[in-house]
Amino acid sequence: MNRFESFLDKFDENSWLKSLDDLLPTIHEVDRNATQIWFRFYPLTLFKYLQSAEDKAAAVRKFVMQGNYELKNQIDSSHKFLYGHRFWKEVKDEIANRAESFSSESPRVSKSANGNENDDEDANLKNEIKQIAKAVADKLKVNESLTVGITAIGLMTLTQVGFDHFKNAAGEVIAPHGLMKKSPEQIVKERAKNDSQGLLGFLKTIDKQWTVRYDESAESGKFKLMDDEEIASGAARDQSQNWLAQDARCGEGVIPVECRSAACGTCWIGILGGAEKLSDVATRERKQMKIFGYNQGDAPKPFLRLACQAKANGAVSIVIPPWNGVFGKKIYGNVEEIELEPATTSAAKLRETIANAVKSEK
Ligand code: FES
Repeated sequence: MNRFESFLDKFDENSWLKSLDDLLPTIHEVDRNATQIWFRFYPLTLFKYLQSAEDKAAAVRKFVMQGNYELKNQIDSSHKFLYGHRFWKEVKDEIANRAESFSSESPRVSKSANGNENDDEDANLKNEIKQIAKAVADKLKVNESLTVGITAIGLMTLTQVGFDHFKNAAGEVIAPHGLMKKSPEQIVKERAKNDSQGLLGFLKTIDKQWTVRYDESAESGKFKLMDDEEIASGAARDQSQNWLAQDARCGEGVIPVECRSAACGTCWIGILGGAEKLSDVATRERKQMKIFGYNQGDAPKPFLRLACQAKANGAVSIVIPPWNGVFGKKIYGNVEEIELEPATTSAAKLRETIANAVKSEK
């Protein structure tokens, strides 16, 4: 570990998340949810647990982890759903420079004499993020609010993959297409819009349809959902690609699913925009998310959801994590087990009704 890595290594997941919360107002809305979601897709506590496990493969099996959970295999791409991804090369270079020059400097904020130690240390972390984000923004002549989120992600990536891997990554950026080609303000506006239901749309009830964007950087990265339908059901109807060939977890559609009853954690998704158009989190979904380890606060419309439970009443933008698992109890503690409900829920009935309606239309 170089000195900068040792400095970053002092911060636990709580410190990172608290620092991120404090910095949220300085992050442009286009990347505000995206940055919070990324930090949940790559939780530091889970990384440290696996890193120190005597038998990592056994721990991975115990947590039923499937998919690509290793950040070191996706240094340049894990954040491709952020607007700030386009600045990644410059962010990565600036962080690498900072890490190399850090050995001759102390942190940019010295400890203040009045507060407690943790607050001072967190201020140092926040200041590193802000200073690096500012240097990149100045260099690229863009607003700093667009570089704060991707810089925080860059520093966490360095923490988890180590300096050598970080520096040696190519820094490749995926060119923006689709919605991501628009300005940050236009993207925020587009996410808020709902599909037009036609001239007599106000008369429509159950046959309203909404667009779910699962890849904002591709024109084709979307599918349709019936009003009040769970997101996973709409995803399963989109058979435009061979999803299974792209991800072994995707037996039904672009969103991996298994149980469809909030029991397995396979279908978790991040909500980039339109969280307010989804059903409130029910008690069971909330409790299960804690058991799985998908760590977030208690907002009624949070930025992480189970796609088999969240029903939409408008268009939404989502991001699908590259892996899933069940690790909350071991990693975070403080979760209570709950009884699983019978599989025959009203959600299952709705799925059936919609499937029959779609069949009879053909
Ligand atoms: S498919 Fe199992 S929790 Fe959603």
